[in-house]
Amino acid sequence: MNLLKTKKVSIALFFLILFFSPGSASAQNLMRPIQVQNVTTTTADIIWKSASGGTSQVKYGTTTSYEMGTANGANGRKQIDNSPGFMHKASITGLSPNTKYFYQALTNGGGMSAAGDQTYYIKTSPVTGSSTPFSWVVIGDSGNGGSNQKATATQIANKKPELVIEAGDVVYGSGGYGGYASLSGEPEQDRLHYDIFKESMKFSPYYLACGNHDNNSNNTPAGILNGCDVMVDDQSMPNGGRLPGSSGSGSSVIYSFNYGNVHFTVLNANPEASPQLGGAQLNWAINDIRNSAQPWKVVVWHQNGWSAGTHSTNANVTANLIPMVQDAGAHVVLWGHSHVYERFSRFANQGKAGCTTAGGCRNKGPYYFTIGNSGSGGATGTCGSYANGPMCLARSGVGNIPTGTGLLYAQTNGNSMTFSYVTSSGATSESVTYNLSEFGPVIPPTAGPSPTNQPTSPPNSTPTRTPTPLSGATNTPPPIITQPPGGVCTYYKN
Ligand SMILES: [Fe+2]
Repeated sequence: MNLLKTKKVSIALFFLILFFSPGSASAQNLMRPIQVQNVTTTTADIIWKSASGGTSQVKYGTTTSYEMGTANGANGRKQIDNSPGFMHKASITGLSPNTKYFYQALTNGGGMSAAGDQTYYIKTSPVTGSSTPFSWVVIGDSGNGGSNQKATATQIANKKPELVIEAGDVVYGSGGYGGYASLSGEPEQDRLHYDIFKESMKFSPYYLACGNHDNNSNNTPAGILNGCDVMVDDQSMPNGGRLPGSSGSGSSVIYSFNYGNVHFTVLNANPEASPQLGGAQLNWAINDIRNSAQPWKVVVWHQNGWSAGTHSTNANVTANLIPMVQDAGAHVVLWGHSHVYERFSRFANQGKAGCTTAGGCRNKGPYYFTIGNSGSGGATGTCGSYANGPMCLARSGVGNIPTGTGLLYAQTNGNSMTFSYVTSSGATSESVTYNLSEFGPVIPPTAGPSPTNQPTSPPNSTPTRTPTPLSGATNTPPPIITQPPGGVCTYYKN
């Protein structure tokens, strides 16, 4: 055998050994992008899916030498929909707040990413309640697999937010979340979600809400499960992603968590989850929001309240979820479903008038957003007032805000929070800043009608509240601009 032949054989043998080595990356075959999940001040979960089961490990450290050691998880497991491959998870503990760590995931000792790759990192939450700034992104209704969704994914990767909120309809596939486009074996959520957002999923924990398309139980292979249950199984959500003390499909994708000085509450507005006042979910939610000591309280669900986009105002949301967040003292409420961007004013008195809960009500309610155009947009419509509701103040397709797709980019900085609407091409169309001092204290409950049983008396001819300067406010208190027909609420323009 001449020297050249020997060299060729050696090279072939090298690659053969590398491929079939039990610890090699190629033998393990990564089947779903590696995600950082459930990040707190001191912990983080890393999850991934590979072709084989076996050990789950994550090396980590403040440098890419991963000097802090290895976190060992349970061996890879099958998912509840019995889809191909094995889910792996390793939980890292003992981290410091507001600190960046690099990591590498391994199945059976084989790296799922290249050692030293600096795009795989964890950024832990600032100390709970602290004023340390951080940024986050909200998207909705992205999951169609089209070029606009991919453009949205690029913007998220560019922004490098510390977390991403998805306001539902994560997947528009034939079977919904947990469904299969064909029997080829790849779940729809891989093709329409994980594969597309994989770059930012390496470092930004995604927090999903379950939309009506995700919830589709008409999955193939037939009847496997409710899509919201599969979503819980796919992710490492806070508190297991379930309404505390409950089980079953009606309790899935309902959870809350803290990040920095914000308390985030994610709700399931699908009918299966019974999102009605007096029901288990909203009873839990109002206490969860009210009892949080966090300065900021943000609430997310999928179905829109008021909207003039691809969906009009949803009566169940305005009759149940809205009174709940008004009473609970939320500051910002985010939803999708309607494929537009809409920014609404607060309306002041619904919570005060209803004030059905023992702890009292905030007398100036939350700001509301529709962000349901992160995958498809372009619906025409108006931006106006809503009876017994707030006023639409901005909208994609109106004024300087282009029709089309986009995302909401939030920057939390102590007592202020700025929301910027960013198109999928990366342009910022508008920004608005809210300050905690705008909201006023939670006021004690007073006797009065419940939010679902408001007075039907004619509207007053004068506003029910005169704006007064707020001490320490960085924004001018918003003026009352109109009185709604037949309602008890006042509108505030920001
Ligand atoms: Fe929807």
